[in-house]
Amino acid sequence: SAGDLGHKLGWEVYAVGGFVRDILLGRPNFDLDLVVEGDGIEFARKFASLSGGRVKAHSKFKTAVVILDDGQRVDVATARLEYYEYPAALPTVELSSIKMDLYRRDFTVNALALRINPGRFGQLVDFFGAERDIRNRTIRVLHSLSFVEDPTRILRAIRFERRFDFQIGGQTMRLIKNALNLELFSKLSGTRVMHELQWIMNEEDPLACFIRMQELGIMAAIHPLLKLTKDKVQILTELGKVHNWYKLLYLEPEITSWKLYILGMTMGIKREDIGQVTTRLHFTRKEEKDFKQLRDMIGDALMKLMGWREGKSKLSRLYSILHPIPVEGILFLMARSRKEHIRRNISQYLARLRYVKIDVDGKDLLNLGIEPGPIYTIILDRLMRAKIDGHVETREEQLEMAIK
Ligand code: CTP
Repeated sequence: SAGDLGHKLGWEVYAVGGFVRDILLGRPNFDLDLVVEGDGIEFARKFASLSGGRVKAHSKFKTAVVILDDGQRVDVATARLEYYEYPAALPTVELSSIKMDLYRRDFTVNALALRINPGRFGQLVDFFGAERDIRNRTIRVLHSLSFVEDPTRILRAIRFERRFDFQIGGQTMRLIKNALNLELFSKLSGTRVMHELQWIMNEEDPLACFIRMQELGIMAAIHPLLKLTKDKVQILTELGKVHNWYKLLYLEPEITSWKLYILGMTMGIKREDIGQVTTRLHFTRKEEKDFKQLRDMIGDALMKLMGWREGKSKLSRLYSILHPIPVEGILFLMARSRKEHIRRNISQYLARLRYVKIDVDGKDLLNLGIEPGPIYTIILDRLMRAKIDGHVETREEQLEMAIK
């Protein structure tokens, strides 16, 4: 094990951060972070050769990632033993480097370590009262400059608070408000803000975080157009529900959460203004183009869906409306629809309709003696609609229809 290897090399090894926090909270966490009081990269190399796996090392940061053969990732960091020489007759002090390493972290709950060397295996190393904070369900910073050093920690505080149903501590909240008053947040780069927003959108309940952000004026601080309105809260609530439904069914392809929730966050923003938001959040050219196109597609589909009636309109019509739209857009349409029958039919499309395949292909058309050309697309398309609408079923019926 990693602990035995540490012992052999003469280095203390710790599991740290979210992994330890989640053990105390009784929550699953598969991202193991190790800190080695020694040489992290050498440790990672030896660990990989013992247990099988690859190493990616970053010598600049003295960190490494071990990717084990089963796909499990282990992050390894280096904490150097530091010696402080005092002048004159005072003795040299050896500062425990794990303490320094933990002190640089964001919140007490993330600044816990667990010894894994044999003999001391399982000993909790808690310099900052993390265990107490976990018991009291409190998010607390380690020192008063934490948010000044890194304002993205404000969003992290909110994310952890909502995820664990904790409370941001009183003094920590004052420091957040102080940092916001200093407008540290408005100065954050779009890339960093977007990165943190994406983490939030990957949480179980992003809306809870957005509401907290709104209360603190953070939405407007990112961009005035991002302020939460009643409409946005409503659509984000519905988006959360359809997203969960989709996840529960294990439908493919997987949703890119941010592409879904950003649609809700920007609902009601005019077409000519949307560029302000994508610029602020530092979208790439391609992301911006795709996002604008998605919004246009949704607008277009909403119009078409207004005329669609269950029982009266064909399912193949629904298929053609939805087929060109990425799955995030379709879920948005589902969340947007007030009419129950539209929702139900969109869910049918996602669960079943979009996987429909016909049993005839170009080769069959050739065998039927049909001259190749654009007509093939037209025929195959017609067969598809016929199958969706239940007019043809078997391959024989489809072949028969192809020559008609
Ligand atoms: N960290 C920090 N400041 C940041 C980001 C991270 O101090 N702005 C520290 C945290 O103490 C955290 C560690 O770096 O424990 C690893 O970060 P990350 O993997 O983002 O945190 P986890 O706690 O593992 O969070 P999650 O459960 O969301 O993966």
